[in-house]
Amino acid sequence: MSEQQRPEAETDAPVFSPRKNGQAQSVSDELAAWMRTGWADTERRDLEPVEQAEHTARRRARISAAFPGERLVVPAGQLLTRSNDTEYPFRAATNYAYLTGDTSDGGCLVFTPDGHGGHDVVLYLKPRSNRDNGEFWLGGYGELWTGRRNSLPEAAELLGVATADVRTLPDALRSGDTAVRIVRGHDAELDAIVDELRGDADEESRAKSAQLDSDLGVTLADHRLVKDAWEVAQLQLAVDATVRGFNDVVKALPQAKDTSERFIEGTFFLRARVEGNDVGYGTIAASGSNATTLHWTRNDGPVREGDLLLLDAGVETRTLYTADVTRTMPVSGTFTDTQRKVYDLVHAAQEAGIAAVAPGRPFTAFHEASQRVLAEGLVEWGLLEGPVDRVLELGLQRRYTLHGTGHMLGMDVHDCAVSRQELHLYGDLEPGMVLTVEPGLYFQPDDLTVPEELRGIGVRIEDDVLVTEDGRTVMSAGLPRSSAEVESWLAERLPR
Ligand code: GLY
Ligand code: MN
Ligand code: MN
Repeated sequence: MSEQQRPEAETDAPVFSPRKNGQAQSVSDELAAWMRTGWADTERRDLEPVEQAEHTARRRARISAAFPGERLVVPAGQLLTRSNDTEYPFRAATNYAYLTGDTSDGGCLVFTPDGHGGHDVVLYLKPRSNRDNGEFWLGGYGELWTGRRNSLPEAAELLGVATADVRTLPDALRSGDTAVRIVRGHDAELDAIVDELRGDADEESRAKSAQLDSDLGVTLADHRLVKDAWEVAQLQLAVDATVRGFNDVVKALPQAKDTSERFIEGTFFLRARVEGNDVGYGTIAASGSNATTLHWTRNDGPVREGDLLLLDAGVETRTLYTADVTRTMPVSGTFTDTQRKVYDLVHAAQEAGIAAVAPGRPFTAFHEASQRVLAEGLVEWGLLEGPVDRVLELGLQRRYTLHGTGHMLGMDVHDCAVSRQELHLYGDLEPGMVLTVEPGLYFQPDDLTVPEELRGIGVRIEDDVLVTEDGRTVMSAGLPRSSAEVESWLAERLPR
């Protein structure tokens, strides 16, 4: 958080630092005076709350009840420098957006004990730019550079929470001697203020403080494990947009053949952007043997006739819910016999995994079900020596399966990763949980333990699955899964 973003709230002094053009601009008194005047009142009044406001209120009440008597600090995060005076696109911290519905940069949600067992909750935000001191047009973060922000009263109405000027936050935090916890790692200045307030003098007290902060993050992740109906609807929107993006890619495959995997990546991204969304993680557009690299995001390889293309991509909604879907498709439109053999085994493993997703089943059940099918196939093909139980016990199939079969999905693509193990990794599935089921087989191009015809083949099939009261719903069922369905899909959409 720079001085520029948090100048003193009450000041007439210029607080801007004209940065976009590299050097300070001199401004005549006449121009400065003229720029202060002649602006219409654009304040919006009587705004309807955003639709998630009732949900965020409930989430705040739940986290308040979990930490009575403690101050909680949940920052949005700050813009990060990409190069010189340009920044990476901003994406608000997940827990902040979960509790506020806000996705702007530089804010912070603060729970302050109210003395009656609850909390006063205030959302500290960047206010509208000051017109009197020139910041709005001369400062690199002024509204004429970055766009109009909500005024504090507007934000309070929209989000259904009290708001305050974020420039007053450091003083507010320094007042009183309440025990404090922060969701660390998003705002270096706020982290430093919390450290200063604690004044930990030795390693032991620093470790205890770190535990306090990490417990806040764990509790928030625990709360996010089960999605409410509004969140499920957001995830379905993300998945549906992702399905449209995959369909676009299939239509564009012939052009990709003339360029590179980046054409695939760009085609998917175009769908996300034209619908006003983003992607939830770096798109993996992996053709040929690049598909054997799990997180291939360089996407600079060729797309060749005869190759398999593995596309792992997910649209993230404006409310920050993401899909995570993978399809592996033959660029030519038809699988070779060897490609089909690998694909069909992965598909069978996925079917077994999806069937094991149900309320009350252990989280690990779908992984075990998929891995068993893959191990059986690998033994049958003679790549692994049976019996299958021995293979599974020693995990030998992992030479070719490499990763776990899935993960929770939500606002983060690998959602709630820090939640308590007894609720998540060693817990049982509950209605409202959403997870991916994504088995894969990867035969590295230089793996001498497999026949030459398998080398360089990578297949993953990934779907997003909602746990329901009586079983599961495959949210990404709009895309084909079996090898025959994939070929029909390509035949229908590939231009002739
Ligand atoms: N896209 C990363 C994953 O599937 O987990
Ligand atoms: Mn994925
Ligand atoms: Mn995934």
